[in-house]
Amino acid sequence: MEFKVNIEYSEKKTSDCIVIGVFESLGFSPSTEKVNTISRGYLKDLSQNADFQGKAEQALLLHHVPHVASERVLLIGCGKKEELDEHRYKKLIKKMVNTLKETGAKNVFCYLTELKVKKKDIDWKIRSAIEIIQDALYCFDHYKSTKTLHVLNQITFIITPTQTKAAQTAIQEGIALTVGINEAKNLANTPPNICNPTYLNVSARKWAKKFKNVRVSMVNEDEMKNLGMNAYLAVGQGSKNDSLMSIMEYKSDKIPASTKPIVLVGKGMTFDSGGISIKPSQNMDEMKYDMCGAATVFGVMNVVAELNLPLYVIGVLAGAENMPGRNAYRPGDILTTLSGQTVEVLNTDAEGRLVLCDALTYVERFDPELVIDIATLTGACVVALGHHMSGLMSNHAPLAEDLLHASEQSGDLVWRLPLDEEYQEQLDSNFADMANIGGRTAGAITAGCFLSRFTHQYHWAHLDIAGTAWRTGKEKGATGRPVALLSHFLLKKALA
Ligand code: BES
Ligand code: MN
Ligand code: ZN
Repeated sequence: MEFKVNIEYSEKKTSDCIVIGVFESLGFSPSTEKVNTISRGYLKDLSQNADFQGKAEQALLLHHVPHVASERVLLIGCGKKEELDEHRYKKLIKKMVNTLKETGAKNVFCYLTELKVKKKDIDWKIRSAIEIIQDALYCFDHYKSTKTLHVLNQITFIITPTQTKAAQTAIQEGIALTVGINEAKNLANTPPNICNPTYLNVSARKWAKKFKNVRVSMVNEDEMKNLGMNAYLAVGQGSKNDSLMSIMEYKSDKIPASTKPIVLVGKGMTFDSGGISIKPSQNMDEMKYDMCGAATVFGVMNVVAELNLPLYVIGVLAGAENMPGRNAYRPGDILTTLSGQTVEVLNTDAEGRLVLCDALTYVERFDPELVIDIATLTGACVVALGHHMSGLMSNHAPLAEDLLHASEQSGDLVWRLPLDEEYQEQLDSNFADMANIGGRTAGAITAGCFLSRFTHQYHWAHLDIAGTAWRTGKEKGATGRPVALLSHFLLKKALA
């Protein structure tokens, strides 16, 4: 898919379809007004017979509108002018692309970017449009015999002359972002018999071949044993797929050599059966998505390298598979983590924190500026926040603030949860320094508390994406979240 910008309406430039907005009670946007004039009032006439009132998300596809050069005109109802906010705008773009999908239009002029959206600039309008269009056109048909083919392959957004520079940047960033999101989705949607910890590593290596200033290394089971990453190893020991931690490094040549890295650690449970504390079988297939933290890191590393951001970013894919079996770890096991702290396993299904705690200790060696882990960590987070917001926990208020800001900017939302001392007691164990579960209440928070015990050496934030990383049901599939959130966070860092 190709995205371009062009200045204002011109009837000479033809496309397969032009998309214009109409407000309720037929307020025309500037371009719609022009189309109406060119067509000698065709649009006004049309509205008279009540086929189209401009209600929000109404769509009407017209062919061969008199005197209009483009073959099709797609009218999109925008609702009341004064109500056009970001949510409405996104719905309009979605309506547009879903309507276009069903037509034979290859190249399209989209005039919806000229609409005034509350508190949003052209930059946002273009980036959001690109994200929504790519999301609507995404499909994972790698394993289907018949592939989906979209003919739509070029969209030109209409802007005013003064918007040119901002629009071009928005296009560039929007494309890089959606490439990253799609990479994350593809990796996440890949089935668990293919996508194992080694596959994550192979993906990282392919990435390294594609970009400059990048490097990939790994920590295998032998090295983990030598280092003492026993919690990480325990989780994977029931699986015939070896645990493997992949480290993706991107360091711009435009920054001082002494720059400290921003470290991203992604939970990469390529399948979480629960282990001996096995999960119920309903929807267990979705536990292939338990590597969405790693997929996010992979996606973000693609964005960063694609945009050549003046940053030093290290992405860790903490790959493992949680399976039952004769070699599997058990409830009751006591594990000595890389940090030296011991953990009593009370539930083998609380495995993410065991892998992450060792990965989080491991990254101390990079002397990071800050560390963010991303994990489909708890069902409790889904209960707390649903599928709209990811859980955010942090030991550093300014970092939490920055992430909340990026959340607003990107629309990839997070909500902060507390990590107060009181919750820590829930992790008390009679036999070890801590238990790996914290009881029935506040499950997302006690998981965060567990991780916080391994992050004293640096500024740290934890994103629990259990509710946001994939969609269930008829539209089952990875969402690519929170690639947008973290990309915005890093873009802002790059400007600082
Ligand atoms: N990967 C799951 C969390 C999860 C569950 C994400 C459902 C999305 C949907 C995690 O490893 C897990 O099993 N967590 C347990 C923790 C519990 C045993 C304390 C959970 O949430 O039930
Ligand atoms: Mn689990
Ligand atoms: Zn899990």
